[in-house]
Amino acid sequence: MEKSFPVLETERLKLRRLELTDAETVRLLAGAEEVAATTLLIPHPYPEGAAEEWIRHTQVEGAEGKDYTFAVTRLTDSLFLGAISLHINLAHNRAELGYWIGVPYWGQGYATEAAKRMLKFGFEELTLNRIFAGYFVNNPASRRVQEKAGMKYEGARRQDVLKRNVYLDVGFCAITRDEYIASLLFN
Ligand SMILES: CC(C)(COP(=O)(O)OP(=O)(O)OC[C@H]1O[C@@H](n2cnc3c(N)ncnc32)[C@H](O)[C@@H]1OP(=O)(O)O)[C@@H](O)C(=O)NCCC(=O)NCCS
Repeated sequence: MEKSFPVLETERLKLRRLELTDAETVRLLAGAEEVAATTLLIPHPYPEGAAEEWIRHTQVEGAEGKDYTFAVTRLTDSLFLGAISLHINLAHNRAELGYWIGVPYWGQGYATEAAKRMLKFGFEELTLNRIFAGYFVNNPASRRVQEKAGMKYEGARRQDVLKRNVYLDVGFCAITRDEYIASLLFN
């Protein structure tokens, strides 16, 4: 039987499964140049039908437990703010955290609040051993999100990705299960 997709809450947010009814909002928010500029996989201009295709993909991967992609929504009025995911590597019991927030909602702590909840989900419910995240080094806001969520900077891979004909350095932050447990005991 298919497992039901989790719903996670924080003080201000509800993280839930993406639905096809989110497609128009995804197209508008993920279609912004500012969001495409600092992500690897979001196309720009955002093609017709790409939101629906992506949402279906997240639903299939979620049902298989390979990738948990959540819509980040505001608790008070269900407003769709962005998306956040854990991409699972079963062999090493680790996951990569990825996220984007729509431009009108930047700078209000939403990415950090969602990231913290994802770490709790990853360690406490998925019993992962390690969660890491990458960011283009010209995107300091993303590194800040990772560090505020409790991840530690581990270094950068030089010229790791080719984005718009430019090789970009990618920084990485991570947190291990031991560090997560220690943070619960000492905070
Ligand atoms: C990166 C992103 C997710 C941040 O979302 P957000 O909800 O605005 O993040 P938060 O409000 O939780 O935190 C942002 C932090 O970055 C800081 N910040 C913003 N711009 C910054 C800059 N140019 N230099 C340094 N820090 C910066 C903010 O001040 C804040 O830190 P603070 O709370 O200490 O003041 C959002 O900008 C985004 O979606 N960008 C496009 C997609 C993307 O880059 N995704 C991540 C791919 S790795």
